[in-house]
Amino acid sequence: MRTQVGIVGGGPAGLLLSHLLHLEGIASVVLERRSREDLETTVRAGVLEYGTAELLKEVGVGERMEREGSVHHGIELRFDGLGHRIDFADLTDGLSITIYGQQEVVKDLIRTRLETGGQILFDSEAESVHDLDTDSPKVRFLADGEEEEISCDYVAGCDGFLGVCRPAVPERARTEYTRTYPFGWFGILVEGPPSTKELIYTLHDRGFALVSTRSPEIQRLYFQCDPHDDTEEWSDARIWDELSARLATRDGWELTDGKIFQKDIVQMRSFVCEPMQYGRLFLAGDAAHIVPPTGAKGMNLAVADVRVLARALIEFYGSGDTELLDAYSETCLRRVWRAQRFSWWMTSMLHRFDRSDPFQLKVQQAELDYVTSSRAAATTIAENYVGAALG
Ligand code: PHB
Repeated sequence: MRTQVGIVGGGPAGLLLSHLLHLEGIASVVLERRSREDLETTVRAGVLEYGTAELLKEVGVGERMEREGSVHHGIELRFDGLGHRIDFADLTDGLSITIYGQQEVVKDLIRTRLETGGQILFDSEAESVHDLDTDSPKVRFLADGEEEEISCDYVAGCDGFLGVCRPAVPERARTEYTRTYPFGWFGILVEGPPSTKELIYTLHDRGFALVSTRSPEIQRLYFQCDPHDDTEEWSDARIWDELSARLATRDGWELTDGKIFQKDIVQMRSFVCEPMQYGRLFLAGDAAHIVPPTGAKGMNLAVADVRVLARALIEFYGSGDTELLDAYSETCLRRVWRAQRFSWWMTSMLHRFDRSDPFQLKVQQAELDYVTSSRAAATTIAENYVGAALG
């Protein structure tokens, strides 16, 4: 099998890249280890930066998002029993975020690709990539128990943190930067009405909590937990008690409960691999970097990477010029590190690292007081959150 761009991984990065290339007449094949059903039902992130939502509209995959997604113009930061709104629209000249689940973006991209003749090979597990330093790199994969091979001009490694692409870069040719956090997020999906119109991020003596949403009927909530916690240890009643305690305000705000239908624990990690390119292999999304979810940046970074990569490949196929491809890693890493900084900072400001350290809690509360009362400081949250800080 031969194609122009071999794309390993059918998450948002791989699928969007395939679509952006198709719009310019460039052929690709997407290899995805999981089934279509699995991809379309796994619940992941849910916040689209302003530029991410605009891009999806521009390239013709934003129609359902515009209908079913929910546009938010701010978030609430809650601490010391009081809520404070960060008004994105006011602080960023009218920008907003869109709440729309990652698996919904994936559904829209899969449908659009298949309608326009795109090749997505589901249940096809990439095993290895080869000949990366030649002009005909190859991807070997297993489909229906058979070993197959695609040869291409370029390989896009969009296969996530645990994929085969990043480890294919020789160790001497990459540097990895990692930070792990001493906590995880316990996440629940709830059938029931929302408690609030906008997301609430809270710091409490007992730890962080977040009230988010997926739709008017489905809510997504999280609270900081022990990374080794077991979801089985948490009864529904214990979960609601913990969330209510952390979200309580002095004026008696009440959390609306509902039917919990999924519980999971999200690990918290910061990770960057530099550079994001080796020979004709280009890494994008979680294959190259991971952010803790506190800044809601994960999927947005993946989209930003493939936007840069698509532009560079279009330039190459149009003129033979590799200038943008050569600059890929440097171009992406600037945004990646800015998002790493923001995600690490939000995580540091909003979590309890050591419950026996009351000094740290006081300093965190003072920092939250500053970012919610100084217009300059609030603007730094707003422009990073909506994704305006890098244009
Ligand atoms: C989510 O809705 O899943 C979500 C929202 C905001 C975050 C992280 C996750 O910062």
